[in-house]
Amino acid sequence: MNSMLTEPTAAVKIDSLLAPYWAEIVEIVPEAEGIVTIWLRFLDQTLQERYSFAAGQFNMLYLPGYGEAAISISSDPQRPELIGHTIRFVGNVTRAVSRLQIGDTIGVRGPFGTAWPLETYQGRDIVIAAGGIGLASLRPVIYQILNQRDLYGRVVLLYGARTPSDLLYSTEFSTWEDNQVEVLTTVDRADESWLGQVGVVPMLFYRLRLDTDSTVVFSCGPEIMMRFVVFEGLARRIPHHRIYLSLERNMKCGQGFCGHCQYGPFFICKDGPVYSFDQLEPFFNLEDF
Ligand SMILES: Cc1cc2nc3c(=O)[nH]c(=O)nc-3n(C[C@H](O)[C@H](O)[C@H](O)COP(=O)(O)OP(=O)(O)OC[C@H]3O[C@@H](n4cnc5c(N)ncnc54)[C@H](O)[C@@H]3O)c2cc1C
Ligand code: FES
Repeated sequence: MNSMLTEPTAAVKIDSLLAPYWAEIVEIVPEAEGIVTIWLRFLDQTLQERYSFAAGQFNMLYLPGYGEAAISISSDPQRPELIGHTIRFVGNVTRAVSRLQIGDTIGVRGPFGTAWPLETYQGRDIVIAAGGIGLASLRPVIYQILNQRDLYGRVVLLYGARTPSDLLYSTEFSTWEDNQVEVLTTVDRADESWLGQVGVVPMLFYRLRLDTDSTVVFSCGPEIMMRFVVFEGLARRIPHHRIYLSLERNMKCGQGFCGHCQYGPFFICKDGPVYSFDQLEPFFNLEDF
């Protein structure tokens, strides 16, 4: 196996960032209960023009007095003039973010981490398996594919959330479908409006007939979901090096200095968060996965 093919794309970074740059919130879009997308523009115009990121990378968002949180960039890499972050309010920093308004500023360090290896798999079929807010890291993949739709084969999104109203970006699904992205959704709990599938994301694989010689899987979501996505992928003979996962761990420095995000021999902030399953397999059965 050619290990070059399995390496996620290297990070694209403007600088080694230890201090945050300040950005203004220009829009706040409610996505679901307790989840919004905030759209940011750097105060420094030159920095804004130089800023670029790849699908799968994250920023450290900083609020003075509260601290920092790692948040995936959820917007289109080809439109870096506004940077989107989809945030679930769970703790110290993110709850403070929930009180911000348009015109407020927030510190940004990044982009950090590895990207989904889209260039490597041009011409292939792509299956995107996402759970809940995991779609935030994968929405840029969909945008990048839509920007160059001819370069990819079949593209399928398997997406699930707890309830129908927890499905993120659902107003975009029809645009994605119009551009030959098959969107299959499922929820844990239906309501009276829901006529679709009820169950977990890995079950959506049973509705697909895949060309396993061509298929690549990208997955982000709860780790238990990704574990079963891996099982379903391997059961369909998709090779280990063509199944990619994005891992979440507590982050501090974001640059491989502090060890907070260590997972086996990896520092997820620097070596990840996107890994091929053959990189993770030796640690896959550890209790904390
Ligand atoms: C690479 C990467 C990308 C990420 N992308 C996103 C993203 O796009 N959007 C987003 O909202 N979050 C994302 N996260 C998760 C986010 O960094 C954490 O949730 C972070 O801890 C939030 O900071 P906080 O100070 O608000 O919460 P903390 O004060 O750190 O946590 C407070 C409490 O919330 C609980 N908690 C923390 N994280 C979670 C969680 N994910 N689910 C449930 N409970 C939790 C903790 O157990 C703790 O009890 C990402 C994390 C990583 C590593
Ligand atoms: S967050 Fe410090 S080493 Fe990864």
